[in-house]
Amino acid sequence: MSATTEIRRPVPPDIRARKGGTPLVVLTAYTTPVARLVDPHCDIVLVGDSVGMVLHGLPSTLHVTMEMMVLHGQAVARGLSRAMMVIDMPFGSYEEGPDQAFRNAARLMSETGAAAVKLEGGEHMAGTIAFLTRRGIPVMGHVGLTPQAVNTLGGYRVQGRGEDADRIRRDAAAVVEAGAFSVVLEKVPDALAREITAGIAVPTIGIGASADCDGQVLVVDDMLGLFTDFRPKFVKRYAELGQEGDRAIAAYAAEVRARTFPAPEHVFGEEPVRK
Ligand code: KIV
Repeated sequence: MSATTEIRRPVPPDIRARKGGTPLVVLTAYTTPVARLVDPHCDIVLVGDSVGMVLHGLPSTLHVTMEMMVLHGQAVARGLSRAMMVIDMPFGSYEEGPDQAFRNAARLMSETGAAAVKLEGGEHMAGTIAFLTRRGIPVMGHVGLTPQAVNTLGGYRVQGRGEDADRIRRDAAAVVEAGAFSVVLEKVPDALAREITAGIAVPTIGIGASADCDGQVLVVDDMLGLFTDFRPKFVKRYAELGQEGDRAIAAYAAEVRARTFPAPEHVFGEEPVRK
C-alpha cells in the first residue's frame, strides 16, 4: 500500500454542495506553470476565454477559437492535481444550438480533461444548458456582463441596474432551472448579487458582484499585476509582477551591455586534462 494519501479532486456536485459554505476560491490559468501556482489555493481553476486578451493581445474574447481553448486547457490540466478545472466555451462554439454546443463541449472535456464547461447567457441559453447537463456535461452558467455579447450590450458596463435587474434575476433563475451547478455573476450591483445568491440553490461566483456571493473569481494576470492594458474597478492587485518584471528585465539589459552578465559562475571552464 502506498504511504501517500490520494487527494480527491472536487467534482461539480461537490461544488454545488458548497452553497452557503466557505466561499469558493476561483482563479483563471492558461499555462502549466501558472496552473501549478494556483492549484494549491483554489477550488476551481478556470481556463477562461479571457486568454485571448490576456495572453494573445486580442481586442476582445470574440476572436478566441476552439483550438486555442483546447491547447490552453491541455496546458493547464498538466499543472493541476487538486483543483477542479472548468473551461470556457468560446464565442461561436455553442450559440447555434444544442447539437453544436454538445459537440464542442464534449471535445473540450475529452481533449483537455476539464470537469465542466462554462458558457455565457441566461434565459436564451437555458435550453442548451438543459441539453448538455442531461447528457453528462456539467455546466457553469455566466450571467450579468457577458463579455462575448459586448457588441449587443454596447460595452463592458455594469448590468442589472434599476429596472434591468429583473432581466438578470430571470437569467440566473433560468440557468439554475436548466441544471447549471454554479453561476458566475459578472459586474452586477452588490445588492442584486446578494439577492440572487440568497434566492438560487447553486453557488454564485462573483466578479465585480458582491462579497456575499458563494465564491469569487479573478483573472490571475489582473490580480498579479501582469495584465496592465486596463484595470477594472473590481480588480484588486495582490502583487505588482509587471513592475517587478520590468525592473528585472532592465537590470538584465544593463548587465548584458556592460558585459557583467554572464559572470564567472554562469560560464563553463575547461575540463581538467586527464594524463
Ligand atoms: O474568461 C474569463 O476569464 C471569465 C472570468 C472573468 C469569469 O469568464
